[in-house]
Amino acid sequence: MTDKTVRLGVLGLGTVGAGTVKLLQDNAESIAAKTGARFTVVAASARDITKQRDCDLEGVTLTTDPFEVVNADVDVVVELIGGYDLARELALAAIQQGKHFVTANKALIAKHGNELFAEAEKTGALVAYEASVAGGIPVIKALREGLAGNEISQLAGIINGTTNFILTEMRDKGRDFADVLAEAQALGYAEADPTFDVGGIDAAHKLVILTSLAFGIPLNFDGAYIEGIEAITTEDVNLAGELGYKLKHLGIARQTEAGVEMRVHPALVPESHLIAKVDGVMNAVLVNGNFVGETLYYGPGAGAGPTASAVVADILDVARQLGSAKENTIANSGYTAGLSNAAEVLPAEAFNCEYYLKLSVQDESGALAQVTSVLADASVSIDAVVQHEPKGESACATLALITHEVNEAQLNTAIQALEGLDIVAGNVTRMRVASF
Ligand code: HSE
Repeated sequence: MTDKTVRLGVLGLGTVGAGTVKLLQDNAESIAAKTGARFTVVAASARDITKQRDCDLEGVTLTTDPFEVVNADVDVVVELIGGYDLARELALAAIQQGKHFVTANKALIAKHGNELFAEAEKTGALVAYEASVAGGIPVIKALREGLAGNEISQLAGIINGTTNFILTEMRDKGRDFADVLAEAQALGYAEADPTFDVGGIDAAHKLVILTSLAFGIPLNFDGAYIEGIEAITTEDVNLAGELGYKLKHLGIARQTEAGVEMRVHPALVPESHLIAKVDGVMNAVLVNGNFVGETLYYGPGAGAGPTASAVVADILDVARQLGSAKENTIANSGYTAGLSNAAEVLPAEAFNCEYYLKLSVQDESGALAQVTSVLADASVSIDAVVQHEPKGESACATLALITHEVNEAQLNTAIQALEGLDIVAGNVTRMRVASF
């Protein structure tokens, strides 16, 4: 029997909150055997404390006021409400009391992490956030601990389950975007505001956290380049397939000589690459380290069970470090204040990629020659082309092509010239091709 008991206060009893309480209850014996500790949820807050949930709340003091939980006699505050402002106030209140703080909130860490880490330095509080990135995949521990000796040159991956689920269903089943999004919400994958998923904000929050840990630099959410998947059509998904690619929504951080690229956008991934095979709600992160080489982390990126798994891992880590002197605990942040400087984050115009372009062109002789001539004048070299004849009443054929690597500012100039041609109807669609 162990007599070490860790007292927990849980903020939020939604999908992840209830999942966390249930995991701690269901696996209490094995957790005690591994850690030598028992974990008791003494207080929890929720907007509706009368609601039935999939966990046992007997003996837990329930309140609608989350500050009551922070101020209760607890060792660890577990924040699972999400959002920016209230979560920040609760985090600061807990940390300033010296209480340890575990969160699944990527928005909070990406935007306010630097401030929270600085406060925690003063009080010795531990701040843990494994569940904030890629659900059940322990990628934060991999970067901060397992790969700590490496210089990381690049990380890239699928870090939003909802968008991956939508793109997979669109491609494999020809399903409609809105219909799949509604299912992702019902399954508990999507954010409270699903525009954060489809608009790329959620993936950017996660990418910013990973970038900080990988490169040892402060969190810089404002530096992230963000594009979502709202504009992707079934036609793009199918054309990418014809050209040998799968469309994925990626987060990419790259250390170049000019600075750091930190970008979230849809990308064409060669069908033969492992990342192209990551479907549904699954996430995967590739990390390249200068001594380890390429490593890949794969697993479920959203949902109650996987996220609870990561939250509880952090709770157990904190429990193992309780009573340790600050210098003997794992650092909260991925950087050291005073030794790490903000890196220069590059704008999109500085990216160099291969690109997918889609144009509607008049179906007449010489049209293709005009397009290739504009691209040649801008020094944009073509790697592959697919053309579809006009459909229905349309007089325009669809032209999809892949370029060789080119600077994005240079490509934008070429796109403007293409859109100025009489034989080109409407705007040119442009997406980046991933290179890992
Ligand atoms: N909405 C997020 C996703 C949940 O779909 O990946 C996990 O962070």
